[in-house]
Amino acid sequence: MKIFITGANGLLGQAVTSIFTRETGWELICSSVEDKSFLDYGNKYEKLDITDKEEVKRVINLHRPDVIVNCAAFTNVDACETERELCWKLNVDGVKNLIIAARKEDCRIIHISTDYVFDGKNGPYTEEDTPNPISFYGRSKLAAENALTTSEVNHAIVRTMVLFGIGINIKPNFALWIIDKLKAADNINIVDDQIGNATMVDDLAWGILKVVEKKQTGIFNIAGSDILSRYDFALKICDVFGFNKALVHRIKTKDLNQPAPRPLNSGLVILKAASQLGISPMDSLESIRLLKTQLGN
Ligand SMILES: NC(=O)c1ccc[n+]([C@@H]2O[C@H](COP(=O)([O-])OP(=O)(O)OC[C@H]3O[C@@H](n4cnc5c(N)ncnc54)[C@H](OP(=O)(O)O)[C@@H]3O)[C@@H](O)[C@H]2O)c1
Repeated sequence: MKIFITGANGLLGQAVTSIFTRETGWELICSSVEDKSFLDYGNKYEKLDITDKEEVKRVINLHRPDVIVNCAAFTNVDACETERELCWKLNVDGVKNLIIAARKEDCRIIHISTDYVFDGKNGPYTEEDTPNPISFYGRSKLAAENALTTSEVNHAIVRTMVLFGIGINIKPNFALWIIDKLKAADNINIVDDQIGNATMVDDLAWGILKVVEKKQTGIFNIAGSDILSRYDFALKICDVFGFNKALVHRIKTKDLNQPAPRPLNSGLVILKAASQLGISPMDSLESIRLLKTQLGN
């Protein structure tokens, strides 16, 4: 099989590239906005901005992949609130460009979405629950889902949340930020009213591999196996790394005055992925332990 990965230099893109390279014999074509791949596995690489419709058509037509795994996105939730045009161009129009190219080449799309399509009033959510985004980022991600579900392209949508893990030149994620701060003995304020699953990127990439391998369609929630507050997650990091818990202070989301509203009582029910894909994502403690090993601590 030939797999085309967009956003391959991001956190998830690198994990997908690594795990697909290690675990499958599939031919991978990696792409991102940078001149070259951050990983050195010898896969083909194309510099590709998914907002460039003609380039997307040209590159997909050149490689004729069986599957596109779309890991490219505008992921800064607060910046999406203020840079709406850019957010829409990448998160919605970019996906539409992939749909047009995939339709022409008869190729499947695996697209990554988020719990931010929900309002966080009564999570955890199953794949059947009705979305109601409260942020611009969430609206853009839902619009991309809708573009796919109303297209004729064979596709799967994978929803995930609070992604963490390691990678080369990646943006700081929630877990790495906490570890850096506590290692430096800095005090940190962590919200105790945002509830959900924290997801190790390796587990998500493995789930995506199963979606591809089993040729699954429709929506799948793939996330860590337990549901907890961000504050409790920070305390688990303290337990595993031996950091001083007195440095971690509880606050409420409203105290942060962030531009984008957050779904508070969120979370994703992962029973469908467990039964149909045969995956068993780690819980938060197991993931943090693995992260510690990966960091060489
Ligand atoms: N991170 C989370 O907590 C989280 C939670 C739920 C869902 N998700 C979803 O999971 C997916 C992967 O997220 P992630 O955390 O891996 O994000 P990420 O690390 O920000 O990766 C996104 C990648 O897309 C690239 N990109 C930006 N603009 C592009 C363009 N025009 N064309 C092609 N590539 C472009 C980025 O490059 P630059 O870095 O150079 O901009 C980056 O390498 C996204 O769909 C996101 O919405 C993430």
